[in-house]
Amino acid sequence: MSTTATLATLSDDHRFADPNWWRQASVYQIYPRSFSDSNGDGLGDIKGITAKVPYLQSLAIDAVWLSPFYPSALADGGYDVDDYRDVDPKLGTLDDFDEMAAALHAAGIKLIADIVPNHSSDRHEWFREALASPKGSPARDRYIFRDGKGPNGEFPPSDWDSVFGGSAWERITEPDGTPGQWYMHIFAKEQPDLNWANREIRDDFLKTLRFWSDRGVDGFRVDVAHALVKDLTEPLLSKLELSAANTGTDGFDDGSHPFWDRDEVHEVYAEWREVFNEYNPPRTAVAEAWVHATRRPRYASPQGLGQAFNFDLLQADFDAEEFKEIITRNLAEAAATGASSTWVFSNHDVVRHATRYGLPKGSKGKHPKGQDGKTWLLAGGPKEELDVELGERRARAATLLMLAVPGSAYLYQGEELGLQEVAEIPESERQDPSFFRNRGVEVGRDGCRVPLPWAAEGSSFGFGDGGAHLPQPAWFSKYAVEVQDGVEGSTLEMYRTALKLRRELQTAEELEWIETGNPEVLHFSRPGGWQSVTNFGETAVDLPAGTVLVSSAPLEDGRLPGNTTAWLR
Ligand code: GLC
Repeated sequence: MSTTATLATLSDDHRFADPNWWRQASVYQIYPRSFSDSNGDGLGDIKGITAKVPYLQSLAIDAVWLSPFYPSALADGGYDVDDYRDVDPKLGTLDDFDEMAAALHAAGIKLIADIVPNHSSDRHEWFREALASPKGSPARDRYIFRDGKGPNGEFPPSDWDSVFGGSAWERITEPDGTPGQWYMHIFAKEQPDLNWANREIRDDFLKTLRFWSDRGVDGFRVDVAHALVKDLTEPLLSKLELSAANTGTDGFDDGSHPFWDRDEVHEVYAEWREVFNEYNPPRTAVAEAWVHATRRPRYASPQGLGQAFNFDLLQADFDAEEFKEIITRNLAEAAATGASSTWVFSNHDVVRHATRYGLPKGSKGKHPKGQDGKTWLLAGGPKEELDVELGERRARAATLLMLAVPGSAYLYQGEELGLQEVAEIPESERQDPSFFRNRGVEVGRDGCRVPLPWAAEGSSFGFGDGGAHLPQPAWFSKYAVEVQDGVEGSTLEMYRTALKLRRELQTAEELEWIETGNPEVLHFSRPGGWQSVTNFGETAVDLPAGTVLVSSAPLEDGRLPGNTTAWLR
């Protein structure tokens, strides 16, 4: 073995054992059912992931975050969990899981599991027991059951809407066949909310955290972390009363909402933290908490989950001023809590950023509504508003900028290929409950969940030997891994180069802005002389002195073209 190789191995081992590995990690999100299918049933699986570990290693990522892989009827893409301590038989077995974890670890990649504590599925044994048990029973107390309003309890306990549309309450049939109580579901009706005031629920989740930590899971992504604890003391306020009571500019900022972001939720995470710290290195966690920005640090505190997603860049336009403000504010916020910041442009819930940036400014493409002129994303809708080339170019520039900023970078499978959102999914093949519960208003999230193209041709573009559970368009071919692999200038090779460099270059977590005199150009440096420059405008600009390490598009006579980022040293 050469000296260089030995050094590389040593530093990789060091990085892997470091308890602070997460602070500036590059985390790659896998949506398991759409990543790689080993048995040709059209659904991605655990063995498929294991087979792609060399690919993951070639990306130089530090961790994989696995969206839910638990037994599920897939009423919400796996976020409806039947059993928190098992693997969906459609995806494999616990042995397959262990094998995958070992293969990832051997490749120097950590494993983060998605945990879904706010609700179970309606097929969970707890919920079935609740349905079979009488009103007021301990089995019902694991969920949120209420009597309905009206003379016969025929109206829901409140007028609250579920996030996916329709009422947040569903009426059950009692064991004796009569129409009965109602249960709360903030999401789909197949996702009944758990009662976190019940000690048994709390203890059972501690058991689940240990179960996966003992199996080698290094960290957790906590689904809807801000909803667990509720105060549903009667009378329940109506939607109108709640919006009148909302004093914050962007959601409640005082913890007084009956179910979003209540202060007491942090008592749950303090208990989780104790479990995380039983392990060496301590298990990590990142909160998915769509809360008022001033309330986010509580989730990221070292006594709590340790890190929280910041979706600010994901919701921003491709705009220099907006980016600078968001980065500055979030770095300050992270420094104040002791956490590191998080950055994300794409995930399984939003329109891919290569597509968002191809839309006119302001539309942002997130949860596009068919009613307000953004019908282009609905199957067969007009697409002329979308500039595919510009979207891809800006997405590459934005990603390269993000990878130079201190903190953890969360990447979503397929963005390294420059994949676009798939608009052309026929209604009959859509799966997302938000499409069905909100028909004609929300097109839903299937377009970013279409199985990945690995090969330019063949059955499901190399995803597996069978079909793909969501239809792949013909244009997927040109984005295939096989097409971009080893090709200079491809999006895939840009990601590989940048991720490798990021690992070598980033040391301390400082960032210093450098004045450019041009409002469309952002320039900053990191310790060690590493610099990043992004031109958000359309005209080429001069680059500062230094060696160019990587750029998101070719330079023009040594100058930085519009919609482009370059790193220098
Ligand atoms: C989170 C997930 C989303 C899911 C929802 C309900 O927001 O990211 O995919 O539908 O929670 O579990």
